[in-house]
This record gives sequence, structure tokens and C-alpha cells, in this order.
Amino acid sequence: MPKHRLVQESAGAIAPALSFCSPEVILGILRPVQNNERHTVIDSMNTEESKNNNIAGPDSSSQISYGMTQPVIWSASFPGYKLLDSGDRKKLEEVAGVRMVRSEPRAWWKPKLSNAEWEKATTKFEHEKGKWHFKNGEPQGLSFSYDGVVFKLKFPANSKHFGLFPEQESQWSWMAERCRERVSKGVVPKVLSLFGYTGAASLVAANYGAHVTHVDGSRAVMSWARENQEASSFLQKPIRWILDDAVDFVKREAKRGQKYDAIVLDPPSFGRGPKGQVWKIEENLVPFLKLCREILSDKPLFIILNMYSTELSAIALKNLLEDMLDGLSGEVTIGELVLTEERGDRLLPLSIFANWSGGSN
Ligand SMILES: C[S@@+](CC[C@H](N)C(=O)[O-])C[C@H]1O[C@@H](n2cnc3c(N)ncnc32)[C@H](O)[C@@H]1O
Repeated sequence: MPKHRLVQESAGAIAPALSFCSPEVILGILRPVQNNERHTVIDSMNTEESKNNNIAGPDSSSQISYGMTQPVIWSASFPGYKLLDSGDRKKLEEVAGVRMVRSEPRAWWKPKLSNAEWEKATTKFEHEKGKWHFKNGEPQGLSFSYDGVVFKLKFPANSKHFGLFPEQESQWSWMAERCRERVSKGVVPKVLSLFGYTGAASLVAANYGAHVTHVDGSRAVMSWARENQEASSFLQKPIRWILDDAVDFVKREAKRGQKYDAIVLDPPSFGRGPKGQVWKIEENLVPFLKLCREILSDKPLFIILNMYSTELSAIALKNLLEDMLDGLSGEVTIGELVLTEERGDRLLPLSIFANWSGGSN
């Protein structure tokens, strides 16, 4: 039996994410959370056409069947994090008890809470100045616990990120389930986390029994990831921390014949490796995916391809994954990662993804 009741969303709340669907299809439903699934799934499985796994064209009188996977909307939620409001290209959040305002380029709409509520924030990222402003001094010693993993919160200069992308929680639980399943069959999956930032995905995978290789090009971020490992008391878990350019590393692994059962990819639009190697998504992604295919094991478990770039869609990611996985059977899930505002009446879309799962390989 489902753990959560069905919550019907108004079509308006779902429409931005599924704007290519007919009105019937976008009558979004928050699907009940399944066993072992911690995030909320919002999908559009409530019409006959959608049950047939098709997507209708904009004109329902001449519905076109594209016969492809329907996008889903995964809304992350976990204790200690709240999205209070969004709008005017900002978001109002409460993180580990700290009320903060950060810029949010996707939030073009109007805020719903009063100015007074927004003014209660004690920590703000000032987008124009590119730095944090603290009303009562910089919060110190804050951390965030998630499913046995501890993340330290910090407010680095020149970055609006505090060490965690909360919407990624949906991916962590999806990945954890797959690692757990493989481990329960007596096999330790080898997981490669590329562009791994402060180690969230790596630590969650390690917590679920995976052997993890974490790659990031930033020295500061890498030492932060190791602090998180220590704070989580995971020093004994098998995690290799590699400070390297993601492309250079995968090239070397391919030459060495190294193989991985799962790859987590969360590439930025633009980035640099430790020696200044330039990553540009529009130039590097396609050849990089080809390279990643070379290091996939014979029985791959999953691939997560996540992206914050606003120029691509989840369907584009699916097409790219299919090119990459040519010939490999499995299941692809595509969609958007969102956060739901506390009142429950509005979603903030943040990233797109295409995940491939090898199933019972
Ligand atoms: C969007 S963040 C990834 C967020 C992370 N997956 C998470 O959910 O917490 C991008 C990361 O890519 C890293 N990066 C950028 N360019 C890189 C490169 N050429 N090689 C390796 N890492 C790079 C940055 O240091 C940053 O930590």
C-alpha cells in the first residue's frame, strides 16, 4: 500500500514543466511514494493516452503518439531543509535553521510571501556583489544530516552554493536503491562520481555499500568533501578522492582498462580542471559521454546524467544517453528535479535529468 496519499496538483503548477503536453496530460498527480522511495514523484499517468506511455501533442484533437518515456517531476524533501518562497529571481530558504535568500535565475514569477517574511532572512547571497551578507555574522559550525551522511554547510566567497544541492536528494534515493539492490545480491558496485562537488552522491553511494571514485577539479571543494566524509564517520568506507580534470581522468581510466558499474554525471555549463583545463558543455559533453561508455562494465547498474544548463531539455538528455548506450538494454527515466514551496502550491524547477537503469542485469 502507498505510504502517502495522492495529492492532486492544479494543472497550472505542473504546466511549466510539461508545457508540451495536452491539458489532460498535464493534470499532474503526485504519485504515492513507493517502498524505499523517499522523494515525491509527480507524474502524469492519469489519462488513457498516458497509460499507453505516449505523449500527446499540443492539439488533443490530432494527438500524436511519440511513444517515448514520459517526463516525471521529482520533488525532493528532507528534514532540515525548507523552500519557503521563490520569485523575482530569488529563493527564500531555511537551511539547518538559517533563513537565507539566494539568487535563482529560474524564478521569474512573483513571490507569494510578504516583504516582511523575506526581510527575516539573516543570510543573503548578494548576486550583484557576488558575495554573502550576514545580518548576525557568518553562521559557524552548521551541518546537515541526511540518511546517515553529514554535510558541512559553508558560505564560500564568490559562490552562492553552501555545499549541497537539496533538489539532488531525489537522485540520491534513486541511486541508493540501486546500490542496495546490487549489494543484496552479493556484488559491490563500483560507482564513479564525476564533477562530484562536496561529495553528496559519493557519500550516499558509499553508505549503501558501493566502492566509490569521486572526481572533482577544485582543490577547495575536494577538501570540503573529505571533511564531510570525516563528519559522517565514513573514513573506513572505500572512497577514492581524485583531484583531476574529469575528461583527463576518464581518458586515463579508459587507457588503463578500468571499468565502473555506475556513473553519476553532473557537469556544469562551464568549469575548469585543477590545471586550468576548460570544460564547456556544448563542446565537451558529447565526446565525453562516448568516453564514459568505454569505462562501463559488462553489467552496468545505472547512469545519472543531471544538468542545470537551461539550454537543454530532459528529452535532449535522453537522446544523448541513448546515443551513448547504443545497444545496452535498460530503462531510461527522464524529468525535472524540483523543490516544492512549503505551502505546497508551487514548484521551483531546478535541473533536468535522464537516468538509465540496467535493471536486473
Ligand atoms: C554543479 S557542481 C556538481 C554538484 C554535485 N553533483 C552535487 O549534487 O552536489 C559542478 C562541479 O564540477 C566541478 N568541475 C568543474 N569543471 C571541472 C572539470 N573540468 N573537471 C572536474 N571537475 C570540474 C566543480 O569544481 C564543481 O564542484
